Amino acid sequence: MTAVAERDRGGPRSAYRFRVNGERHEVTVPGMRRLLDVLREDLGLTGTKEGCGEGECGACSVILDGQVVDSCLVPVCQVEGSDVRTVEGLSRGRTGALSPLQQAFLETGGAQCGICTPGMLMAAQAYLEGGGEADEDHIREAIAGNLCRCTGYTKIVEAIEMAALSG
Ligand code: FES
Ligand code: FES
Repeated sequence: MTAVAERDRGGPRSAYRFRVNGERHEVTVPGMRRLLDVLREDLGLTGTKEGCGEGECGACSVILDGQVVDSCLVPVCQVEGSDVRTVEGLSRGRTGALSPLQQAFLETGGAQCGICTPGMLMAAQAYLEGGGEADEDHIREAIAGNLCRCTGYTKIVEAIEMAALSG
């Protein structure tokens, strides 16, 4: 159990308000409860994955006020009033159509076992929204905090390049 998870047991509960993928939410939980647990267990957004639980693998990456963060390291008390974006927010409209980035992962084989994929997508999304181009070195740097056991990264980089080129 991580230090944050240990502190999550018991303790006074407070109400925290924030937006996830544009929707307002309020949860009443201990302030040190991990954002990862709030997303998965309290809000049912299980697209965000837990790998290491220690800030090492990036599987739990979400975009918090425009920055990629490891949600396993973020206590919910730090999220009050913020905008959180998760992988569930990438697909479009009621049909849930894949975003260009998700489609590119599908086409290149950038998603294999899938445990790293939601976090990888969020890191890539932040890179693209920051004006990132189809530059291999820059893409590798942008996803350096996201570990993948399956792909050797080549297909992931190809997918992000494809999405960058599609504008
Ligand atoms: S689960 Fe958060 S970095 Fe690994
Ligand atoms: S696709 Fe399996 S860890 Fe990345």
